Amino acid sequence: MMITIDRAETKEVFDSRGRPTIEVMLVSGEHMVQASVPSGKSTGSKEALEKRDKDGRGVEDVLHLLREEVFPQLLARTFENQRALDDFLIELDGTPNKSRLGANGILAVSIAFAKLSAAKNKLPVWKFIAKSEGFTAGFPRLYMNVLNGGAHADFKLPFQEYIVVAGGLDSVRETYARAKKLFSKLGEIVREETVEEVPFGDEGGYAPKLATLDRPFEILADLIDSEPTFFLGIDAAATEFLNKEGYRLIGTNYPREALNEVYGDLMSRFPLRSIEDPFAEDDPQAFAKLLADAPEGTLVVGDDLTVTNPKVIAEMIVLHAGNALIIKPNQVGSLSEVYDTIRLAHQAGWKTVVSHRSGETDDSFIADLAVGVGAYGLKAGAPSQQVRAVKYERLVQIEAEYANVLQ
Ligand code: PGA
Ligand code: ZN
Repeated sequence: MMITIDRAETKEVFDSRGRPTIEVMLVSGEHMVQASVPSGKSTGSKEALEKRDKDGRGVEDVLHLLREEVFPQLLARTFENQRALDDFLIELDGTPNKSRLGANGILAVSIAFAKLSAAKNKLPVWKFIAKSEGFTAGFPRLYMNVLNGGAHADFKLPFQEYIVVAGGLDSVRETYARAKKLFSKLGEIVREETVEEVPFGDEGGYAPKLATLDRPFEILADLIDSEPTFFLGIDAAATEFLNKEGYRLIGTNYPREALNEVYGDLMSRFPLRSIEDPFAEDDPQAFAKLLADAPEGTLVVGDDLTVTNPKVIAEMIVLHAGNALIIKPNQVGSLSEVYDTIRLAHQAGWKTVVSHRSGETDDSFIADLAVGVGAYGLKAGAPSQQVRAVKYERLVQIEAEYANVLQ
């Protein structure tokens, strides 16, 4: 179906850290849609460029470019599909990393267009994605980041994220309900354990002062004991704690071989089955070694390593530098490239975990994306923040509408 855009507007909104980001509204006939984009803090060096004003904070320059340059051209054309729209934007930008118009501006238009296409086809967004892009829809596990450390918290627990991976039950509604109960129980446990008030980290998880490498795992292993189908994950975000002497964890520097052993030891003692960015983003060989050494069924997950980029994931597949990757649309800046990356990953037998960013908005698009592409997981932080909860709640809502949509 050819899509004509009748009206396009954009404005600044604030993300969950109170920083400006971009919202785009598109109108076509009777349909009106909105999309907003998140913002990361522990970013991979090969990510597309999130454009900021000279002050490093504002997005006025991007808003101006959208209004004065992009929108007039959008309104003057028709687009056959997502690819046509994305190719048009990428060409208009004209840089390898979307640095002229900004990946944030381009992605906001790209996501809004996907929502508009779904609306015009009278389909929910997840269903439209599955149908138009040839994916098999399915429900993801919940990757709920319950303890925040690293770059996302003032007190730096050694790893950036400690995740409860919730799944294996009959319904998403039930899974989410039980995961929320565990999260609230975790709050009581960490408050009892630490004398001081326990703050929240950027992604809504608790950020308690726990003194040893083992302690977060001991607490979480106990917590999920009653849920045999749940397991634990971490996002080490290891680039953030690499220095000249090695990987620094609680005052000790570990060479990569020793860090590999630390992960092996943790996996042997705790139900830890998913490890994201275990080593620096420029060391795929270390990822490959961990995967080769790890127990069967372990997920070695690329994030800064793979940056949702089809060219990069193709290289990492050849190197066996993992068996799963994080999918963050704003790492690459257009949905067509996101779909290309997912297709390459799934063809190679890699699992995908669709993810939010640490600075989020109330847009729940990634829940539709996760279901539409049949992702293994949806990583959306902890439900103490509304911007995270809306993603999980959208999953529950999709589950309710799933049965009513012609498969
Ligand atoms: P970011 O962190 O959004 O701050 O980049 C999330 C992650 O590393 O997975
Ligand atoms: Zn990560």
